[in-house]
Amino acid sequence: MTSYFDPPIERRGSDSAKWGKFASRQHDVIGAWVADMDLPSADKIIEAVKNRLDERVFGYSMPPAEFIAVIRQRLQEKYAWKTENEWFVMQPGVVPSLFFASNCLGQSGDGIMAARPNYHYFLETAAYTDRLYQPVDCHITGKRWEMDTDMMAKNISPRTSAFLLCNPFNPVGRVLDKRELEAVAEICLRNGTMICSDEIHADLVLDEDKQHIPIASLDPEIEKSSITLFSAAKAFNLPGIGGLSFAIIPDKNLRAAFQKRSYGVATHPGALAYAATLAAYRDCDDWLAETITYLRGNRDYLQAEIAKMPGLSMTHVEASFLAWINVEDCIDTNPLQNFLNFGVALSGGDEMGRADHVRLNFGCHRSTLEEIVRRMKRALET
Ligand SMILES: Cc1ncc(COP(=O)(O)O)c(C=O)c1O
Repeated sequence: MTSYFDPPIERRGSDSAKWGKFASRQHDVIGAWVADMDLPSADKIIEAVKNRLDERVFGYSMPPAEFIAVIRQRLQEKYAWKTENEWFVMQPGVVPSLFFASNCLGQSGDGIMAARPNYHYFLETAAYTDRLYQPVDCHITGKRWEMDTDMMAKNISPRTSAFLLCNPFNPVGRVLDKRELEAVAEICLRNGTMICSDEIHADLVLDEDKQHIPIASLDPEIEKSSITLFSAAKAFNLPGIGGLSFAIIPDKNLRAAFQKRSYGVATHPGALAYAATLAAYRDCDDWLAETITYLRGNRDYLQAEIAKMPGLSMTHVEASFLAWINVEDCIDTNPLQNFLNFGVALSGGDEMGRADHVRLNFGCHRSTLEEIVRRMKRALET
């Protein structure tokens, strides 16, 4: 049976960073590291971008008239989260907003807390904003990665100005549940620590029995102490179309402080990004459902194959298209390099706080994933 994603689109020789960074004429390398997908965007997004191009004038843009209303309705329908127009602050990317959040909360020398392992910017934001990084380690409890909230409660203090939350949680693939979010929020509120929650993977929950919960939607007190970051870029595969994300900041003073930090630094999102994002959120639920089904199939296939590979193991990926693979029992001393030698570029776990792991991006055509698996098996055999 063919799907929307057949046949595969050749990414070799394109401008793809994921495919191009490690490849050369002599060395065919499949890109499976940075978090974008090889899957084509929704037809309705492509049509919206083409329609915008047909206007032929590309002056400075502002959000299209229905933009915020569409997002607000979506947040209400998906998460029962009621937001207000003025809470929305447009930004180019989610990552700059992590830095603005860190910069506008507390002062130089304060603590910025975030789980470890984590998407690398969460580990780096403190150092780049003249703050002190306070790690919260994660462990596998049962079969899933969980934050060590005892460690969090022990190390947090009123000088911890922000907790940077990643939910759904890259790289460990978790959809944090209500109990976990409430525990994090309770510890933060008790210490006057603000929460900056990156929810860029929210639309990519793969497990049918799981539901993304924006931490701010739990309670008005939490909402007031929060900055929530969203973007259509991950789920609808738009990182190359130009940065567009939005921060939702209910508290007026916090919003003003955040805007001051980004003033003159953050560029204005572009017309094509607005057109693509509006179409994504307004018209592409069917495409998203098909993508999730496809990714779920890829995940199940990969999980079964990794289980057969000597020295490798992975936990179940509840959300996203990123598998967090434990290589500590691998006899190879440098599995990341070995996989690369055999033509598969993965992300190294060291940059995410766990050198004994690698991260594999399975947001690709199934035939590509099958080739990745074949190459990894060959790498492990030699
Ligand atoms: C958790 C998370 N946040 C942010 C980003 C990047 O966001 P942006 O490109 O909007 O800065 C990524 C990309 O992989 C991510 O996984």
